[in-house]
Amino acid sequence: MATSPVEPVNRPAEELNRAVIFLGPPGAGKGTQAKKLAAKYAVPHLSTGDMLREHIANGTTLGEKAKPIMERGELVPDSLVLKIVAHRIEQPDCSHGFVFDGFPRTVAQAQYLGELLKQHGYRRPIVIHLLVDMTLILRRITGRRMCKTDGEIYNIFERPPKVDGCCDTDGGELVQRPDDREEIVGPRLRAYEKQTAPLVAYYRRLGLLHDVDASKSVEDVEQQITQTLQQARGRL
Ligand code: AP5
Repeated sequence: MATSPVEPVNRPAEELNRAVIFLGPPGAGKGTQAKKLAAKYAVPHLSTGDMLREHIANGTTLGEKAKPIMERGELVPDSLVLKIVAHRIEQPDCSHGFVFDGFPRTVAQAQYLGELLKQHGYRRPIVIHLLVDMTLILRRITGRRMCKTDGEIYNIFERPPKVDGCCDTDGGELVQRPDDREEIVGPRLRAYEKQTAPLVAYYRRLGLLHDVDASKSVEDVEQQITQTLQQARGRL
């Protein structure tokens, strides 16, 4: 799964050696692009959404607390999320950098992360802000299907699997996330506007934010991100 430790034998020629943060509304394509970037640099893809869903699937105390909140489309309290993240980035596979997807999501989380990165001696993070309009967001969320086994993301409108309902990679069953139901999408978008969108101004002020037009194809967005990172790494 996306959150499991990765320590490949061969390191890529170019190291990431820092945190990259994907910021954007639900359905913007954070997970899709974060996974690609993490694979390219052989670093962990850290999705707090996936971590929380794993806790729910494993029936942990934290998962029991998070489940009803996520089902309502609200944000899980900072105290729970920060605990998971602090523990995760201390793992040895994070020593070459990591890619955050869905974290931070509040200004308090961003401030905490800033301190944590400093404590661990990381350089300043690069924040990729995915911009996409509401019509596309709704199409992407309602069309999303995920492989139950490896978490691979599909879309029945935009990126359908070769065989209906089956993952191309491992044949796993494709399912809809419970919070992708239409009635939960509204609360998720409102939570984004109220609690997460202020991070755009927060990171812009720090000079760390890079806008990317996420309405284009997956490949095109990936290319924009590659270029953005090359430019940003030279500066930061
Ligand atoms: P989380 O799992 O993080 O969900 P989210 O932020 O709502 O984002 P999504 O996963 O819906 O979308 P995405 O941007 O990753 O898009 P994707 O790549 O899948 O969080 C879920 C819940 O957990 C939250 O509501 C909250 O309760 C809790 N939570 C998580 N983190 C938290 C935190 N830090 N603090 C507090 N609570 C937290 O793409 C979407 C679809 O579009 C897919 O079908 C994909 O195939 C398709 N697609 C992607 N890109 C393109 C493209 N360029 N062209 C065409 N189709 C595309």
